Amino acid sequence: MTRAEMKSLVVILIVRLTLNLFTACSTEGYKPVIIVHGLFDGPKQFEILKRFITKSHPGTIVSVIDLYDHLFSLEPLWKQVEGFKNAVYPIMQSATDGIHLICFSQGGLVCRGLIATLDNHNVHSLILLSSPLAGQYGDTAYLKLFPKLLKSEIYRFCYTRWGQRVSICNYWNGWRENVLRIKTLILIGGPDDGVITPWQSSLFGFYDKNENIVGMKDMDWYIKDVFGLKTLHSRGDLKEYMYSGVLHTKWHANYTVYNESIDEWLT
Ligand SMILES: *[C@@H]1O[C@H](CO)[C@@H](O)[C@H](O)[C@H]1NC(C)=O
Ligand SMILES: *[C@@H]1O[C@H](CO)[C@@H](O)[C@H](O)[C@H]1NC(C)=O
Repeated sequence: MTRAEMKSLVVILIVRLTLNLFTACSTEGYKPVIIVHGLFDGPKQFEILKRFITKSHPGTIVSVIDLYDHLFSLEPLWKQVEGFKNAVYPIMQSATDGIHLICFSQGGLVCRGLIATLDNHNVHSLILLSSPLAGQYGDTAYLKLFPKLLKSEIYRFCYTRWGQRVSICNYWNGWRENVLRIKTLILIGGPDDGVITPWQSSLFGFYDKNENIVGMKDMDWYIKDVFGLKTLHSRGDLKEYMYSGVLHTKWHANYTVYNESIDEWLT
């Protein structure tokens, strides 16, 4: 075989391989799923959810980002957003049809930061599972395990959170366009959560100054459509799910929750 023949053979082989790969990917059809964990947990806690996903949608590539696990989840959120961004961005870039993002608890705040800072993101479904979206009142049961961190202040929407100087709420301004790029926003929470306080925060509700619950639609930033939530809602792309009988740490391992409120958004 001449050098030229050899060269063209190699080229043909490469083209064939690429075509094969392309066909393999396009027949699977499911977009990659990225999972962002919460406070004091890590990839291990999401094995069950991963199994739910690959069982109902075989071939789905599920990445549970292995960063800021366990005690490291106490690192400032803006720093975590930077770290997660570096892990998520390459996955996004290689997924030409886009990705889905599932974010649990504090991970929901990290994901908000990701959406805010990744222009031209390709997130189709953003699933925020029991996340303190409108704030967290007082200390979580988790933080009580770490008395050193105990704070008596009341944490209100967009106040500095858990003693961090740079709040994730800095991300609220100017991310409207990025929010509107999301195809569907899925919010999941419930009254027996036990950690998210008030639990309605997982559905963008919070206390008013008299500690009465104000629902998402009566929030000033919703009415003014500050970050696009109202537009998403009127587009029909905001889904809210409420479940009783689910403790905070059980959300991602509950098959009923997965089957009814997550599964259909991962295609
Ligand atoms: C799973 O979710 C269902 C539906 O809300 C609930 O009734 C059940 O108690 C949950 N199971 C566990 C183990 O959390
Ligand atoms: C999952 O949900 C579908 C409806 O969306 C229902 O028909 C099916 O029975 C559920 N599966 C299980 C195992 O609960």
